[in-house]
Amino acid sequence: MAAAAAAGEVVPTFSSLEPVYGDGSQLEEARLRFAHLADKFQAVYAARPALFARSPGRVNLIGEHIDYEGYSVLPMAIRQDMIVAIRRAEGKEVRVANVDDKYPICVYPADPDKEIDIKNHKWGHYFMCGYKGVYEYCRSKGIDMGEPVGLDVVVDGTVPTGSGLSSSAAFVCSATIAIMGVLEKNFPKKEVAQFTCQSERHIGTQSGGMDQAISIMAKPGFAELIDFNPIHATDVQLPPGGTFVIAHCLAESKKAETAATNYNNRVVECRLAAIVLAIKLGMEAKKAASSVTTLSDVEGLCVSFAGKEGSSDPGVAVKKLLHEEPYTVEEIEKITGQSLTSVFQSSQTSLDVLRAAKHFKLFQRAFHVYSEARRVYAFRDTVLSKLSAENMLRKLGDLMNESHYSCSVLYECSCPELEELVKVCRDNGALGARLTGAGWGGCAVALVKEGIVPQFITNLKETYYKSRIDRGVINQKDLGLYVFASKPSSGAAIFKL
Ligand code: ATP
Ligand code: GLA
Ligand code: MG
Repeated sequence: MAAAAAAGEVVPTFSSLEPVYGDGSQLEEARLRFAHLADKFQAVYAARPALFARSPGRVNLIGEHIDYEGYSVLPMAIRQDMIVAIRRAEGKEVRVANVDDKYPICVYPADPDKEIDIKNHKWGHYFMCGYKGVYEYCRSKGIDMGEPVGLDVVVDGTVPTGSGLSSSAAFVCSATIAIMGVLEKNFPKKEVAQFTCQSERHIGTQSGGMDQAISIMAKPGFAELIDFNPIHATDVQLPPGGTFVIAHCLAESKKAETAATNYNNRVVECRLAAIVLAIKLGMEAKKAASSVTTLSDVEGLCVSFAGKEGSSDPGVAVKKLLHEEPYTVEEIEKITGQSLTSVFQSSQTSLDVLRAAKHFKLFQRAFHVYSEARRVYAFRDTVLSKLSAENMLRKLGDLMNESHYSCSVLYECSCPELEELVKVCRDNGALGARLTGAGWGGCAVALVKEGIVPQFITNLKETYYKSRIDRGVINQKDLGLYVFASKPSSGAAIFKL
């Protein structure tokens, strides 16, 4: 592991593309993209952009659905990214256009105080998350922002959407730093990582901070162990001889639109599990309901309990104190001594969850979170260990397989297509394979020995994708967008070209 990122390091500004895109074929591709984006900007606004900003997507290697519970995760940035071309507009509007015509231009009043209309989802809303977030953060620092500015914007994203590779964070983060660039503000990366996490929540998902942290703080060649409260990234050098292959199961998962039954539902279930555990471990019910928000808040109590059983695993408390049958609202309200709507009264998106839920699986969600948190450290410790390369890769693969099992069976964030794809990966020689990102569709990540990567990808094409191409689900020519090997790429940057 290398030293952590220098404290206070701000988002870099470059005058050429090389520092981010290198000097090979990626640079050529990037040059074409930037030129095409500038042309589109010219066509829409009859002007040149003042600057560009880019932020990458990411693949999470291990540590799923635990960032919002306060636990560390281990992602790496991928080369696919979002580029934003921007200039200050004369009018009082924020206009957001896309190089891809399937996304019609979105126009908003230049008003950072206006709530985002989450019931009427539009792709441009993610830009406005960035817009609101910059104003909120600057104001919180006492910076006089004057009259809100209008903006002309065109974006070009290559991160597949709804795929677990965090196209949304690439969008919110690139929007944020583009706006910061136009307003001539810059902040330490850690601060940007922290406030962009808050910004994306304006879309209505109660997401954690992993995606924004890696998109802003990534360094080429390294995965990062990301800790929260406060945010901290530690470089993790992945072992030689192994490659991470990303493969899309072709089911898209729209996190914002399904939040009440999927993503936010799990956040609420985790909070309920934490509250019930706290009460069972002796905390006064009223205090638990008002002060306990995450499973990491009650880890100490769980570990003390486990200690009496000769263990340091908080999962022991989960096994002894929670039952596997789903909890009804009535049962939880009996334990908390108050209605769940009053516990969650300050969060409209949590109330939406309560309205949609029939019951709550507290045992399963809590057991996943505590065990997944331990797997992240086991993964990091394995990378640092003296194991032979062969054994190290095997152990990492095993941890990925265990993570997938837990996501699938306990957290129930997989889907039939992902299950099939993960199995196909393992059957074709992956040392480990798991869903990555929020799940319910999207991508799997597989750890594959470097020497067999081309054959592995060919086999995946034959066994998973061919029948789907034949059925017209995707085009043969787009296959490279759905299955590819990935190396750790660099983080967010501003370009003044
Ligand atoms: P995950 O959060 O599981 O890692 P994800 O971030 O790709 O995956 P979502 O959080 O649901 O998935 O965000 C996807 C949404 O972001 C899209 O539905 C779209 O609204 C917006 N988006 C992302 N990239 C683009 C783009 N290039 N053009 C337009 N909209 C985009
Ligand atoms: C989404 C969220 C992240 C994280 C993952 C699941 O990508 O944005 O904060 O919770 O899901 O690990
Ligand atoms: Mg997302």
